[in-house]
Amino acid sequence: MAKVTKVLIESDKIAQRIKQLGAQITQDYAGKTVLMIAILRGSVIFFSDLIREIDSDKVDIIIDFISVSSYGSSHKTTGEVRMLKDADEAIDGKDVIIVEDIVDTGLTLQYLKKVLSSRNPSSLKVCCLLDKPERRKVEISADYLGFTIPNEFVVGYGFDYAQKYRNLKDICVLDPKAK
Ligand code: PRP
Repeated sequence: MAKVTKVLIESDKIAQRIKQLGAQITQDYAGKTVLMIAILRGSVIFFSDLIREIDSDKVDIIIDFISVSSYGSSHKTTGEVRMLKDADEAIDGKDVIIVEDIVDTGLTLQYLKKVLSSRNPSSLKVCCLLDKPERRKVEISADYLGFTIPNEFVVGYGFDYAQKYRNLKDICVLDPKAK
């Protein structure tokens, strides 16, 4: 069972912010078809809520998924990121939005932007739920951002510790004793 020290962002605050992000994306992409790519696994909860806040009368959405090497693996120290599962859709000529749960060191996003931009999308943007700027190693930021947070280990709403607690409704700080 998850023992949390505190709730960092409550579920209704998350929902409210995602409504705003969805409205902004709807406005920016009105009349277009957008290929939205979720980065597995953490972003799936955010992704499923976000795409339903985009007005389907104004924007068409195609969804896809990419998986890259996981947190705590060697890329944190070596800077290497590995593709575990590529997108199924062609990127060429598409308006693409990468949907991430968090920008931490920025290495994952830097890698994804490099790989996807080399496939000639019509446009490429990033929508990210959380930003931890204190941890940044490379200069990169999201075009659409939910919240900036301090350097604390978060679980819930897609975020895990050892693959658990992703299904908590709030974004929480895990009790260090529970690790
Ligand atoms: C997390 C997160 C980002 C990446 C961010 O993924 O979802 O993809 O790390 O870190 P960075 O900015 O330092 O590169 P993780 O590997 O934990 O996998 P998960 O989504 O399956 O939890």
